[in-house]
Amino acid sequence: MSSAASLRCRECGKEYPLSLKYVCGDCFGPVDVVYDYDSMGLNRNSFVSRPKSLWRYHEFLPVELSPESTELQAGYTPLVNSRRLAGELGLGRLYVKNDTVNPTGSFKDRPAALGVARAVQFGLKSVGCASTGNLAAATSAYAARSGVPCFVFVPYDIEPAKVSQAQAYGANILAVEGTYDDANRLAAQAGELYGIGVVNINLRPYYVEGSKTLAFEVAEQLGWEVPDHVIIPVGSGAMLHAICKGFEELRRVGLTDRVPRRVTAVEPAGCAPIAHAFQKGSADVMPVEAPRTIAKSLAIGDPGDGAYVLKDIRKYGGEVEEVHDEQIVDAVYLLAKSEGIFAEPAGGVTIAALKKLVEDGRIDKDESVVCYVTGSGLKTPDLLEGSLPRPTRVKPDARSLSQVIAR
Ligand SMILES: Cc1ncc(COP(=O)(O)O)c(C=O)c1O
Ligand SMILES: [Zn+2]
Repeated sequence: MSSAASLRCRECGKEYPLSLKYVCGDCFGPVDVVYDYDSMGLNRNSFVSRPKSLWRYHEFLPVELSPESTELQAGYTPLVNSRRLAGELGLGRLYVKNDTVNPTGSFKDRPAALGVARAVQFGLKSVGCASTGNLAAATSAYAARSGVPCFVFVPYDIEPAKVSQAQAYGANILAVEGTYDDANRLAAQAGELYGIGVVNINLRPYYVEGSKTLAFEVAEQLGWEVPDHVIIPVGSGAMLHAICKGFEELRRVGLTDRVPRRVTAVEPAGCAPIAHAFQKGSADVMPVEAPRTIAKSLAIGDPGDGAYVLKDIRKYGGEVEEVHDEQIVDAVYLLAKSEGIFAEPAGGVTIAALKKLVEDGRIDKDESVVCYVTGSGLKTPDLLEGSLPRPTRVKPDARSLSQVIAR
Protein backbone atom coordinates (compact mmCIF):
# COMPACT_ATOMS: atom_id res chain seq x y z
CA MET A 1 0.00 0.00 0.00
CA SER A 2 1.10 3.55 -0.69
CA SER A 3 2.28 5.56 2.32
CA ALA A 4 1.69 8.89 0.55
CA ALA A 5 0.24 11.33 3.08
CA SER A 6 -0.02 14.81 1.56
CA LEU A 7 1.46 17.39 -0.79
CA ARG A 8 3.95 19.96 0.49
CA CYS A 9 5.28 23.14 -1.11
CA ARG A 10 9.01 22.82 -1.80
CA GLU A 11 9.46 26.54 -1.04
CA CYS A 12 7.23 27.56 1.87
CA GLY A 13 6.32 24.15 3.30
CA LYS A 14 2.54 24.67 3.12
CA GLU A 15 0.70 21.32 3.07
CA TYR A 16 -2.20 20.26 0.87
CA PRO A 17 -4.24 17.08 0.60
CA LEU A 18 -3.34 14.64 -2.19
CA SER A 19 -5.21 16.38 -5.01
CA LEU A 20 -4.70 17.79 -8.49
CA LYS A 21 -2.71 20.69 -7.05
CA TYR A 22 0.71 21.21 -8.63
CA VAL A 23 1.75 24.71 -7.57
CA CYS A 24 1.48 26.25 -4.14
CA GLY A 25 -1.47 28.64 -3.79
CA ASP A 26 0.59 30.93 -1.53
CA CYS A 27 4.00 31.21 -3.21
CA PHE A 28 3.68 29.40 -6.59
CA GLY A 29 6.43 26.95 -5.59
CA PRO A 30 6.20 23.36 -6.83
CA VAL A 31 4.54 20.83 -4.52
CA ASP A 32 5.94 17.39 -3.70
CA VAL A 33 4.38 14.24 -2.29
CA VAL A 34 5.33 13.54 1.32
CA TYR A 35 5.00 10.14 2.96
CA ASP A 36 4.36 8.72 6.36
CA TYR A 37 7.82 7.15 6.55
CA ASP A 38 7.35 5.82 10.08
CA SER A 39 4.41 3.67 9.01
CA MET A 40 6.32 1.88 6.23
CA GLY A 41 7.90 -0.75 8.48
CA LEU A 42 10.41 -1.87 5.84
CA ASN A 43 13.67 -3.74 6.10
CA ARG A 44 15.94 -5.17 3.43
CA ASN A 45 14.15 -8.53 3.45
CA SER A 46 10.81 -6.89 2.70
CA PHE A 47 11.71 -6.75 -1.00
CA VAL A 48 12.98 -10.28 -1.60
CA SER A 49 9.86 -11.79 -3.15
CA ARG A 50 8.33 -8.68 -4.67
CA PRO A 51 7.68 -8.22 -8.44
CA LYS A 52 10.68 -7.22 -10.51
CA SER A 53 9.35 -3.81 -11.53
CA LEU A 54 9.30 -0.34 -10.02
CA TRP A 55 6.09 -1.31 -8.19
CA ARG A 56 8.19 -3.30 -5.71
CA TYR A 57 8.65 0.04 -3.91
CA HIS A 58 4.92 0.78 -3.72
CA GLU A 59 5.08 2.26 -0.21
CA PHE A 60 7.14 5.12 -1.72
CA LEU A 61 4.81 5.68 -4.68
CA PRO A 62 1.69 7.89 -4.63
CA VAL A 63 -0.81 5.57 -6.33
CA GLU A 64 -2.61 2.39 -5.42
CA LEU A 65 -1.65 -0.66 -7.48
CA SER A 66 -3.90 -1.78 -10.33
CA PRO A 67 -3.34 -4.30 -13.15
CA GLU A 68 -3.53 -1.49 -15.74
CA SER A 69 -0.66 0.37 -14.12
CA THR A 70 1.58 -2.51 -13.17
CA GLU A 71 1.35 -5.09 -15.93
CA LEU A 72 3.65 -3.37 -18.41
CA GLN A 73 6.33 -3.80 -15.72
CA ALA A 74 8.28 -0.57 -15.98
CA GLY A 75 11.55 -0.47 -14.11
CA TYR A 76 13.82 -2.93 -12.34
CA THR A 77 16.17 -2.61 -15.28
CA PRO A 78 19.68 -4.13 -15.15
CA LEU A 79 22.55 -2.47 -13.32
CA VAL A 80 25.38 -3.61 -15.56
CA ASN A 81 28.81 -4.10 -14.03
CA SER A 82 30.71 -2.45 -16.88
CA ARG A 83 34.13 -4.07 -16.54
CA ARG A 84 35.24 -3.61 -20.12
CA LEU A 85 34.35 0.08 -20.22
CA ALA A 86 35.92 0.54 -16.77
CA GLY A 87 39.11 -1.13 -18.05
CA GLU A 88 39.16 1.09 -21.13
CA LEU A 89 38.85 4.22 -18.97
CA GLY A 90 41.14 3.00 -16.18
CA LEU A 91 38.39 2.99 -13.55
CA GLY A 92 37.79 0.51 -10.75
CA ARG A 93 34.04 0.08 -10.19
CA LEU A 94 31.76 1.31 -12.93
CA TYR A 95 28.09 0.42 -13.42
CA VAL A 96 25.64 1.39 -16.12
CA LYS A 97 21.99 1.63 -15.12
CA ASN A 98 20.56 0.36 -18.39
CA ASP A 99 17.18 2.07 -18.60
CA THR A 100 17.08 1.60 -22.38
CA VAL A 101 15.27 -1.71 -21.77
CA ASN A 102 12.08 -0.29 -20.28
CA PRO A 103 8.83 -1.25 -22.09
CA THR A 104 8.92 1.84 -24.34
CA GLY A 105 12.72 2.19 -24.47
CA SER A 106 13.50 4.97 -22.01
CA PHE A 107 13.38 5.87 -18.32
CA LYS A 108 10.19 7.86 -19.04
CA ASP A 109 8.20 4.67 -18.49
CA ARG A 110 8.74 5.30 -14.78
CA PRO A 111 7.14 8.75 -14.41
CA ALA A 112 4.56 8.07 -17.14
CA ALA A 113 3.34 4.91 -15.41
CA LEU A 114 2.81 6.92 -12.22
CA GLY A 115 1.23 9.95 -13.91
CA VAL A 116 -1.26 7.93 -15.96
CA ALA A 117 -2.19 5.68 -13.02
CA ARG A 118 -2.85 8.71 -10.86
CA ALA A 119 -4.93 10.40 -13.59
CA VAL A 120 -7.11 7.29 -13.78
CA GLN A 121 -7.48 7.24 -9.98
CA PHE A 122 -8.54 10.91 -10.07
CA GLY A 123 -11.19 9.90 -12.61
CA LEU A 124 -9.79 12.06 -15.43
CA LYS A 125 -11.14 11.13 -18.86
CA SER A 126 -7.98 11.80 -20.89
CA VAL A 127 -4.23 12.19 -20.37
CA GLY A 128 -1.40 13.88 -22.20
CA CYS A 129 2.10 15.30 -21.92
CA ALA A 130 4.53 17.83 -23.32
CA SER A 131 7.49 15.90 -24.60
CA THR A 132 10.84 15.97 -26.34
CA GLY A 133 9.92 12.50 -27.64
CA ASN A 134 10.38 9.79 -25.06
CA LEU A 135 7.64 10.86 -22.72
CA ALA A 136 5.29 10.95 -25.73
CA ALA A 137 5.80 7.23 -26.34
CA ALA A 138 5.69 6.32 -22.65
CA THR A 139 2.52 8.28 -21.83
CA SER A 140 0.82 6.91 -24.97
CA ALA A 141 1.64 3.32 -24.01
CA TYR A 142 0.34 3.60 -20.44
CA ALA A 143 -2.75 5.45 -21.72
CA ALA A 144 -3.39 2.65 -24.22
CA ARG A 145 -3.00 0.08 -21.45
CA SER A 146 -5.49 2.00 -19.29
CA GLY A 147 -7.94 2.65 -22.15
CA VAL A 148 -7.89 6.46 -21.95
CA PRO A 149 -7.29 8.89 -24.86
CA CYS A 150 -3.89 10.59 -24.96
CA PHE A 151 -2.79 13.97 -26.38
CA VAL A 152 0.90 14.59 -26.80
CA PHE A 153 2.48 17.96 -27.53
CA VAL A 154 5.91 17.75 -29.15
CA PRO A 155 8.14 20.20 -31.02
CA TYR A 156 7.55 19.59 -34.75
CA ASP A 157 11.23 18.66 -35.38
CA ILE A 158 11.77 15.71 -33.02
CA GLU A 159 13.07 12.39 -34.33
CA PRO A 160 10.48 10.67 -36.63
CA ALA A 161 10.90 7.29 -34.87
CA LYS A 162 9.66 8.82 -31.63
CA VAL A 163 6.55 10.26 -33.29
CA SER A 164 5.67 6.97 -34.97
CA GLN A 165 6.17 5.08 -31.73
CA ALA A 166 3.64 7.30 -29.92
CA GLN A 167 1.26 7.09 -32.90
CA ALA A 168 1.45 3.31 -32.83
CA TYR A 169 0.07 3.40 -29.30
CA GLY A 170 -2.90 5.36 -30.66
CA ALA A 171 -2.08 8.82 -29.29
CA ASN A 172 -3.17 12.11 -30.85
CA ILE A 173 0.05 13.88 -31.80
CA LEU A 174 0.14 17.67 -31.81
CA ALA A 175 3.37 18.77 -33.51
CA VAL A 176 3.85 22.29 -32.24
CA GLU A 177 5.53 24.79 -34.55
CA GLY A 178 8.07 25.95 -31.98
CA THR A 179 10.44 24.69 -29.31
CA TYR A 180 9.79 22.31 -26.42
CA ASP A 181 9.01 25.31 -24.24
CA ASP A 182 6.25 26.36 -26.68
CA ALA A 183 4.86 22.80 -26.67
CA ASN A 184 4.92 22.84 -22.88
CA ARG A 185 2.94 26.10 -22.68
CA LEU A 186 0.32 24.82 -25.11
CA ALA A 187 -0.02 21.54 -23.19
CA ALA A 188 -0.58 23.48 -19.96
CA GLN A 189 -3.37 25.47 -21.63
CA ALA A 190 -4.92 22.28 -23.03
CA GLY A 191 -4.86 20.81 -19.53
CA GLU A 192 -6.76 23.79 -18.14
CA LEU A 193 -9.21 24.19 -21.01
CA TYR A 194 -10.08 20.54 -21.63
CA GLY A 195 -9.47 18.88 -18.26
CA ILE A 196 -6.65 16.72 -19.64
CA GLY A 197 -4.37 15.09 -17.06
CA VAL A 198 -1.06 16.34 -18.44
CA VAL A 199 1.34 14.01 -16.67
CA ASN A 200 4.34 16.35 -16.50
CA ILE A 201 2.32 19.52 -15.80
CA ASN A 202 -0.84 19.21 -13.70
CA LEU A 203 0.06 15.68 -12.50
CA ARG A 204 3.72 16.56 -12.03
CA PRO A 205 3.94 15.88 -8.26
CA TYR A 206 2.84 12.27 -8.87
CA TYR A 207 4.69 11.83 -12.16
CA VAL A 208 8.13 12.76 -10.77
CA GLU A 209 7.86 10.15 -8.04
CA GLY A 210 8.33 7.40 -10.64
CA SER A 211 11.91 8.48 -11.30
CA LYS A 212 12.92 8.04 -7.63
CA THR A 213 12.93 4.32 -8.30
CA LEU A 214 16.16 4.88 -10.28
CA ALA A 215 17.80 5.47 -6.90
CA PHE A 216 16.01 2.62 -5.09
CA GLU A 217 16.95 0.05 -7.71
CA VAL A 218 20.61 1.05 -7.86
CA ALA A 219 20.95 0.78 -4.07
CA GLU A 220 19.14 -2.56 -3.93
CA GLN A 221 21.07 -3.97 -6.90
CA LEU A 222 24.32 -3.05 -5.13
CA GLY A 223 23.19 -5.03 -2.07
CA TRP A 224 21.84 -1.88 -0.38
CA GLU A 225 25.12 -0.06 -0.88
CA VAL A 226 25.04 3.51 -2.12
CA PRO A 227 27.44 4.35 -4.98
CA ASP A 228 30.04 7.05 -4.33
CA HIS A 229 29.22 8.96 -7.49
CA VAL A 230 26.20 9.06 -9.81
CA ILE A 231 26.16 10.70 -13.26
CA ILE A 232 22.74 11.82 -14.53
CA PRO A 233 21.52 13.38 -17.81
CA VAL A 234 19.48 16.56 -17.43
CA GLY A 235 16.72 18.10 -19.54
CA SER A 236 14.13 19.68 -17.24
CA GLY A 237 16.06 18.39 -14.20
CA ALA A 238 13.04 16.50 -12.84
CA MET A 239 14.77 13.12 -12.96
CA LEU A 240 17.93 14.31 -11.23
CA HIS A 241 15.96 15.91 -8.42
CA ALA A 242 13.85 12.76 -8.08
CA ILE A 243 16.92 10.49 -7.91
CA CYS A 244 18.35 12.66 -5.11
CA LYS A 245 15.00 12.50 -3.29
CA GLY A 246 15.05 8.72 -3.69
CA PHE A 247 18.47 8.33 -2.08
CA GLU A 248 17.40 10.66 0.74
CA GLU A 249 14.25 8.62 1.38
CA LEU A 250 16.19 5.35 1.59
CA ARG A 251 18.41 6.85 4.23
CA ARG A 252 15.39 8.33 6.00
CA VAL A 253 13.79 4.89 6.47
CA GLY A 254 17.11 3.24 7.37
CA LEU A 255 17.46 1.00 4.30
CA THR A 256 20.82 2.68 3.60
CA ASP A 257 23.13 4.74 5.75
CA ARG A 258 24.21 7.51 3.40
CA VAL A 259 23.55 9.29 0.09
CA PRO A 260 26.00 9.47 -2.87
CA ARG A 261 29.10 11.55 -2.14
CA ARG A 262 28.97 13.17 -5.52
CA VAL A 263 26.27 13.85 -8.15
CA THR A 264 27.27 14.98 -11.64
CA ALA A 265 24.60 16.51 -13.89
CA VAL A 266 25.17 16.47 -17.65
CA GLU A 267 23.71 18.69 -20.37
CA PRO A 268 24.50 18.84 -24.09
CA ALA A 269 26.60 21.93 -24.90
CA GLY A 270 23.95 23.14 -27.38
CA CYS A 271 21.42 23.41 -24.55
CA ALA A 272 23.23 23.87 -21.25
CA PRO A 273 21.44 26.57 -19.26
CA ILE A 274 22.09 24.91 -15.90
CA ALA A 275 25.79 24.34 -16.64
CA HIS A 276 26.14 28.03 -17.54
CA ALA A 277 24.52 29.13 -14.27
CA PHE A 278 26.76 26.70 -12.37
CA GLN A 279 29.90 28.05 -14.06
CA LYS A 280 28.89 31.62 -13.12
CA GLY A 281 28.12 30.63 -9.54
CA SER A 282 24.56 31.90 -10.09
CA ALA A 283 21.37 30.48 -8.58
CA ASP A 284 19.31 31.68 -11.56
CA VAL A 285 19.04 29.69 -14.74
CA MET A 286 18.84 31.86 -17.88
CA PRO A 287 16.82 30.07 -20.59
CA VAL A 288 18.44 29.06 -23.88
CA GLU A 289 16.19 30.44 -26.65
CA ALA A 290 17.16 28.12 -29.49
CA PRO A 291 18.58 24.77 -28.34
CA ARG A 292 20.80 23.06 -30.89
CA THR A 293 21.95 19.54 -30.12
CA ILE A 294 21.70 15.97 -31.39
CA ALA A 295 20.54 15.03 -27.88
CA LYS A 296 17.03 16.23 -28.71
CA SER A 297 15.50 14.64 -25.65
CA LEU A 298 17.53 17.09 -23.57
CA ALA A 299 16.71 20.18 -25.66
CA ILE A 300 14.75 21.95 -22.93
CA GLY A 301 15.80 25.60 -23.00
CA ASP A 302 13.92 26.61 -19.86
CA PRO A 303 14.32 23.70 -17.43
CA GLY A 304 11.51 23.61 -14.87
CA ASP A 305 13.68 22.09 -12.15
CA GLY A 306 16.89 23.93 -13.13
CA ALA A 307 17.21 25.88 -9.88
CA TYR A 308 16.68 22.68 -7.86
CA VAL A 309 19.36 20.85 -9.87
CA LEU A 310 21.78 23.64 -8.92
CA LYS A 311 20.81 23.27 -5.25
CA ASP A 312 21.18 19.49 -5.36
CA ILE A 313 24.57 19.68 -7.06
CA ARG A 314 25.84 22.20 -4.52
CA LYS A 315 24.48 20.10 -1.66
CA TYR A 316 26.11 16.92 -2.93
CA GLY A 317 29.32 18.59 -4.03
CA GLY A 318 29.19 17.75 -7.71
CA GLU A 319 29.42 19.56 -11.03
CA VAL A 320 27.24 20.33 -14.02
CA GLU A 321 29.10 19.19 -17.14
CA GLU A 322 28.40 20.07 -20.76
CA VAL A 323 29.38 17.74 -23.58
CA HIS A 324 29.59 18.42 -27.33
CA ASP A 325 27.73 16.52 -30.03
CA GLU A 326 30.93 14.79 -31.29
CA GLN A 327 31.74 13.64 -27.75
CA ILE A 328 28.19 12.29 -27.43
CA VAL A 329 28.45 10.29 -30.68
CA ASP A 330 31.84 8.86 -29.62
CA ALA A 331 30.37 7.91 -26.25
CA VAL A 332 27.34 6.17 -27.76
CA TYR A 333 29.69 4.11 -29.91
CA LEU A 334 32.09 3.38 -27.04
CA LEU A 335 29.30 2.17 -24.76
CA ALA A 336 27.76 0.00 -27.48
CA LYS A 337 30.98 -1.73 -28.45
CA SER A 338 32.38 -2.15 -24.95
CA GLU A 339 29.23 -3.18 -23.09
CA GLY A 340 26.58 -4.13 -25.68
CA ILE A 341 24.30 -1.26 -24.63
CA PHE A 342 23.03 0.97 -27.44
CA ALA A 343 21.93 4.38 -26.18
CA GLU A 344 20.32 7.38 -27.82
CA PRO A 345 22.34 10.62 -27.54
CA ALA A 346 20.51 11.71 -24.38
CA GLY A 347 21.61 8.47 -22.74
CA GLY A 348 25.13 8.71 -24.15
CA VAL A 349 25.80 12.09 -22.51
CA THR A 350 26.62 10.46 -19.17
CA ILE A 351 29.31 8.28 -20.74
CA ALA A 352 30.70 11.32 -22.58
CA ALA A 353 30.87 13.20 -19.26
CA LEU A 354 32.53 10.24 -17.54
CA LYS A 355 35.18 10.12 -20.25
CA LYS A 356 35.75 13.85 -19.87
CA LEU A 357 36.15 13.55 -16.08
CA VAL A 358 38.71 10.76 -16.61
CA GLU A 359 40.65 12.73 -19.25
CA ASP A 360 40.76 15.81 -17.00
CA GLY A 361 41.88 13.75 -13.98
CA ARG A 362 38.75 14.82 -12.10
CA ILE A 363 37.63 11.39 -10.96
CA ASP A 364 38.99 9.17 -8.23
CA LYS A 365 39.82 5.77 -9.74
CA ASP A 366 38.69 3.97 -6.59
CA GLU A 367 35.20 5.48 -6.34
CA SER A 368 32.16 3.45 -7.35
CA VAL A 369 30.40 5.19 -10.23
CA VAL A 370 26.91 4.68 -11.67
CA CYS A 371 26.11 6.22 -15.07
CA TYR A 372 22.42 6.47 -15.83
CA VAL A 373 21.78 5.56 -19.49
CA THR A 374 18.21 6.58 -20.03
CA GLY A 375 17.11 6.02 -23.64
CA SER A 376 17.56 3.41 -26.36
CA GLY A 377 19.61 3.93 -29.52
CA LEU A 378 16.82 2.28 -31.49
CA LYS A 379 14.90 5.53 -31.09
CA THR A 380 17.52 7.46 -33.06
CA PRO A 381 18.71 4.94 -35.65
CA ASP A 382 20.22 7.56 -37.97
CA LEU A 383 22.63 8.89 -35.41
CA LEU A 384 25.69 6.80 -36.23
CA GLU A 385 25.07 6.76 -40.00
CA GLY A 386 27.93 8.46 -41.75
CA SER A 387 30.33 7.90 -38.87
CA LEU A 388 30.52 4.12 -39.29
CA PRO A 389 32.30 2.06 -41.98
CA ARG A 390 30.20 0.56 -44.78
CA PRO A 391 29.27 -3.11 -44.36
CA THR A 392 31.61 -5.50 -46.17
CA ARG A 393 29.92 -6.80 -49.35
CA VAL A 394 30.45 -10.44 -50.20
CA LYS A 395 29.20 -12.87 -52.84
CA PRO A 396 26.78 -15.53 -51.51
CA ASP A 397 29.55 -18.10 -51.77
CA ALA A 398 31.71 -19.46 -48.91
CA ARG A 399 34.91 -19.00 -50.97
CA SER A 400 34.50 -15.22 -50.84
CA LEU A 401 34.82 -15.36 -47.04
CA SER A 402 38.52 -16.23 -47.14
CA GLN A 403 39.21 -12.67 -48.29
CA VAL A 404 37.41 -11.08 -45.32
CA ILE A 405 37.68 -13.42 -42.33
CA ALA A 406 41.11 -14.38 -40.99
CA ARG A 407 41.49 -17.98 -39.78
C1 LIG B 1 16.37 9.70 -22.62
C2 LIG B 1 16.23 10.88 -21.71
N1 LIG B 1 17.15 11.08 -20.76
C3 LIG B 1 17.07 12.12 -19.92
C4 LIG B 1 16.05 13.05 -19.98
C5 LIG B 1 16.03 14.19 -19.02
O1 LIG B 1 15.03 14.08 -18.07
P1 LIG B 1 14.50 15.36 -17.26
O2 LIG B 1 13.75 16.20 -18.24
O3 LIG B 1 13.66 14.80 -16.19
O4 LIG B 1 15.72 16.07 -16.77
C6 LIG B 1 15.06 12.88 -20.95
C7 LIG B 1 13.96 13.85 -21.05
O5 LIG B 1 13.14 13.81 -21.92
C8 LIG B 1 15.14 11.77 -21.83
O6 LIG B 1 14.21 11.55 -22.76
ZN1 LIG C 1 4.51 27.69 -1.10
